[in-house]
Amino acid sequence: MLKFLTGFVVAVVLVLAFGFCYVRFGFVNPRADQPVGRLESSIAMPALDAAVDRRAPETQNPLQPTDANLIAGMNIYQSNCAGCHGDTLHPHTAFGDSFYPRVPQFAEDAPDMPENQNFYIIQHGVRLSGMPAWNPTLSEQQIWQVTTFLSHMDKLPAQVSEQWKTAAAATQANIPSPGASQPASTSKKGMSMPMH
Ligand code: HEC
Repeated sequence: MLKFLTGFVVAVVLVLAFGFCYVRFGFVNPRADQPVGRLESSIAMPALDAAVDRRAPETQNPLQPTDANLIAGMNIYQSNCAGCHGDTLHPHTAFGDSFYPRVPQFAEDAPDMPENQNFYIIQHGVRLSGMPAWNPTLSEQQIWQVTTFLSHMDKLPAQVSEQWKTAAAATQANIPSPGASQPASTSKKGMSMPMH
């Protein structure tokens, strides 16, 4: 019995030491432009869902999905999120595909998590991914507005949908497209995010 236990402990220590050395001495590929591994998508994504499920407080959205709130949420989304998550005129951004993990493209596949969980992710971000925490830059009210917009994105009233198209077209006009007659320096260093 003692022999078995010793063997077991040694095996566990060896596995942990191997894992540590594998990570610490650079065997993990750091590149973002690689297909997302099957192990990572089958472990990391459910792990994120479970962590958010465990941590997000059971808060109720204090806002009604009125046109005014949806339009406010749309404007926040269009200025802060669309460059990565896509919009009604650019449902799939090449920029979003350059992240690891890839940025979910909401105009193709609307987020279907409960609102308290979307609120929590928007407030706090997701570490080791490109998703920033928005609580330093957006107020609680603005985060609820954009949360409300997200959960109604695939069923927007006609008026909101029209305004979204107008806002998305205006965003596009500010973004240099490849081959446009812009000096390379402004298109590379500009503040706006590429959306082609
Ligand atoms: C710089 C790129 C970037 C910006 C800007 C960005 N996000 Fe994200 N977002 C991500 C990435 C990457 C993920 C995926 C994280 C993961 O799966 O680990 C994500 C995930 C999310 C999720 C979780 C989706 C899911 O199904 O799990 C929500 C909700 C979200 N973002 C909302 C927003 C909102 C709202 C904004 C703007 C206020 C925003 N994001 C701005 C990159 C971005």
